[in-house]
Amino acid sequence: MKHIALFASGSGSNAEKIADYVADNTEVKIALILSNNPKAGVIERARRLHIPVLLFDRATFYTTSQITELLLNQGIDLIVLAGFMWLMPADLVRAFPNRIINIHPALLPKFGGKGMYGHFVHEAVAAAGEKESGITIHYVNEHYDEGQIIFQATCPIAQSDTPDDIARSVQALEHMHYPRVVTEVLTPLNPLKP
Ligand code: GAR
Repeated sequence: MKHIALFASGSGSNAEKIADYVADNTEVKIALILSNNPKAGVIERARRLHIPVLLFDRATFYTTSQITELLLNQGIDLIVLAGFMWLMPADLVRAFPNRIINIHPALLPKFGGKGMYGHFVHEAVAAAGEKESGITIHYVNEHYDEGQIIFQATCPIAQSDTPDDIARSVQALEHMHYPRVVTEVLTPLNPLKP
């Protein structure tokens, strides 16, 4: 059995799609959803899906190793960021080498980096007059949006498309691909050595 920990700060639609996708998979379990945001929609989704939730604050995340230790103790095989807006701390990245993945709502390396998240991304893409956007699923390192790319998919942008239109197209791609890619990354992994 492989165990996933999901990190989310917002609505959690991707987290729910991933949970739905693996619901009947006896080899994969969403062990935990972690969030920095007590008001995040993902918390209500987690309750409905009967997935345990852990809320944490900035000081715990960045000045203690509590989260890293908890994830190691729980035997987490893969950490999946699904709309998680904080940078991963160095000790957590080191403890889970090539075992943290993120989805970004644009075609990296364009439109990435600090401050480029959620709607800001789609506004920047529209303002730049891009002809296409898409999704990037990538490994996570200590820098925003810089880890090795695992998968990208694109969608066309019409001249009349607003940032909201682009957001809808990109979200459809996220829901279509992220659950499958998560499972594909997870399947060949061996347990982490203590
Ligand atoms: C998704 O579009 C994801 O790509 C984006 O946040 C949204 C979360 O939606 N992530 C980033 O911008 C990270 N830089 P959700 O809460 O409905 O899954």
